[in-house]
Amino acid sequence: MRCILLFLLWHLTLALHVTLFSPYMYVPYYDVFIKDYFDWHRKQTRSLNECNYRTYKFIVLRCSNNERKCGGVADRLKALPFFIAAAAKSNRIFMIRWERPTKLEEFLIPNEINWAMPDWMYEKTNSFHTDTIFMPTAKLFVSGLKKYESMTVLEGLVQDFYGGSKFYEKLDCEMDKNKVFDHEVAKKLNDMHGWSSYEFIFRDLFNTLFLPSPPVAKLIKGKMESTNLISGEYTTTQYRAFYAIENKKHTRTDLDLISKTKNAINCASKNFPGAPVYFASDSHTAVTYARKYGEAFNHTVVTLDDEKEALHLDKKDQWKSGNVSDFYPTFIDLLIMAEAKCMAYGVGGFGRFASILQIDPKCVLRHDSERKKQVTICKWYDRGDIVGGEW
Ligand SMILES: *[C@@H]1O[C@H](CO)[C@@H](O)[C@H](O)[C@H]1NC(C)=O
Ligand SMILES: *[C@@H]1O[C@H](CO)[C@@H](O)[C@H](O)[C@H]1NC(C)=O
Repeated sequence: MRCILLFLLWHLTLALHVTLFSPYMYVPYYDVFIKDYFDWHRKQTRSLNECNYRTYKFIVLRCSNNERKCGGVADRLKALPFFIAAAAKSNRIFMIRWERPTKLEEFLIPNEINWAMPDWMYEKTNSFHTDTIFMPTAKLFVSGLKKYESMTVLEGLVQDFYGGSKFYEKLDCEMDKNKVFDHEVAKKLNDMHGWSSYEFIFRDLFNTLFLPSPPVAKLIKGKMESTNLISGEYTTTQYRAFYAIENKKHTRTDLDLISKTKNAINCASKNFPGAPVYFASDSHTAVTYARKYGEAFNHTVVTLDDEKEALHLDKKDQWKSGNVSDFYPTFIDLLIMAEAKCMAYGVGGFGRFASILQIDPKCVLRHDSERKKQVTICKWYDRGDIVGGEW
């Protein structure tokens, strides 16, 4: 009885996601296996329930409280194409499960594919024990697909710089008859192999999977409308001031913050002269200065005007309020940056991740780096200015 009731309830909840049954708007059709897999995924998730789940198999992209470190949004979601490919290859239902700081669904909800783990399953998978295995790298995961074929749940989290793209490339070639794995290129590019495929599909894949949650969507809409930001008609930059020094913020001087903020904004203008600049940073000083810089020189610089410093997703000891809205700025920044035409990014993975979500991930520039050689020093460019050498 309980099962029948739950079954009905699950269908009801699913029906609320109206878009789940409508034709895809975003699926990257050019990677054949993705569309086929998503068709299959939709069928599976429609009939899955608390009573029959053992007849299914799953791949779960996770961030659980057991991990020493999950990282920020980029660390957690950069390997999405890899996980989708692994799930397609092994006929497993793809799901995402975050426990830290909270469920991903607080910020991003399923769009055309229901990747959300049903509530009952959190408990069940925790008690699977012998039926669940966690693999923390793409390499382990690929070999695990065979090795642990009979396991109900394979869980993973891949945080390498290229999000497992070279393994994606391999799986893609295995599933697509028209693609041949190029061993020469693979040798040359090494870990970077497949990254161009990532750049190509990521925006569509992301939009197939995610919509901003209602409160996040409302804030984004409000911000963009009130500041006249139009998708594709502005440029953006992210300055990560406290990369690897979240616990020693005082070591970053104001002078440093200010000069890097100015350079970040200038570099964004170099990508798209004269266009409004959306500026994001983990430093409140930087955000305040960015606004002042815009006002002083009559450049349009848009920032999220929050009193508080953005909270890093993985710094739960700094999360005192327990209010999920403390993390909204991260997702608002990400999704507004993703609608910009061009990007200037610095250190850390966040800006780079936003740039692969953009329509043209190639319109990028590096304004800051741990390696001096990679840093670009930029001046401000107005509309019509000739973009030349740096000085
Ligand atoms: C500031 O820029 C706008 C257009 O971007 C222009 O209309 C306005 O006159 C400028 N103001 C000053 C004080 O230069
Ligand atoms: C969380 O914070 C937001 C913004 O400050 C506020 O509007 C909301 O009421 C808070 N929610 C709770 C449950 O405290």
